[in-house]
Amino acid sequence: MATLGVNIDHVATVRQARRTDEPDPVWAAVDAQLGGAACITFHLREDRRHIVDRDVPLLKEVVNVRLNMEMAIAPDVVDIACRTQPDQCCIVPEKREEVTTEGGLDVVRLGDRLRDVVARLRDAGCCVSAFIEPDPAQIDASAAAGFQTVELWTGGYAHARNADSQREAISSLVAGVRHAAQCGLIVHGGHGLTYRNVAPIAAIAGFEEFNIGHSIMARAMFVGIREAVREMNRLLQQHAPKE
Ligand code: PXP
Repeated sequence: MATLGVNIDHVATVRQARRTDEPDPVWAAVDAQLGGAACITFHLREDRRHIVDRDVPLLKEVVNVRLNMEMAIAPDVVDIACRTQPDQCCIVPEKREEVTTEGGLDVVRLGDRLRDVVARLRDAGCCVSAFIEPDPAQIDASAAAGFQTVELWTGGYAHARNADSQREAISSLVAGVRHAAQCGLIVHGGHGLTYRNVAPIAAIAGFEEFNIGHSIMARAMFVGIREAVREMNRLLQQHAPKE
């Protein structure tokens, strides 16, 4: 069964709305762990719009499960990652005007620029992941650039407007998982997954982890973080492929 990585950025978004010290994403990380998260994910953006530098060493200290740092390849962020040594660094594309990460990284185009960053992060002891669309060329390029893991963008499925495009998106995820595994990559998935749409994705064999943020934090406003994490874990378990 795939494990659950909980993205805590939204807690920091609420804090930054007032530039104050609450709610604290570090507390959220502790609560998510108590609810059964197998991984805590945070994104230190270049514009520091939610998670800020102060959070990073504190997360490193309090997170006892896997710690996954999402990041672009901005030099100052790469330096922080090398110093902090999270268990995993997930390289994502970043655009200043975006509301959240939109689509996957273009590893085919960025190839050589990524190779050096991947090597530095691996030397620092981190497992390095590429957030990409389930496209065979991007998967091949990720393996060639030295990534050990790919996180396949599930947004194509989550944003599908009808049953046909949803089926198509599921088929490309199934093929993407298979292709990535053949390349020797560990496969994660994420983006746009919710309590209502996660079942068919949780049922795909080969995903080792799902990273989910918005839907869990939205529910947490009403039931608390621990219960929201428990409920998502229950769904992953209920719909997991039969081994
Ligand atoms: N995985 C990656 C790489 C992301 O950038 C995001 C969004 O921050 C997520 C997963 C989680 O997406 P969502 O908030 O839609 O669950």
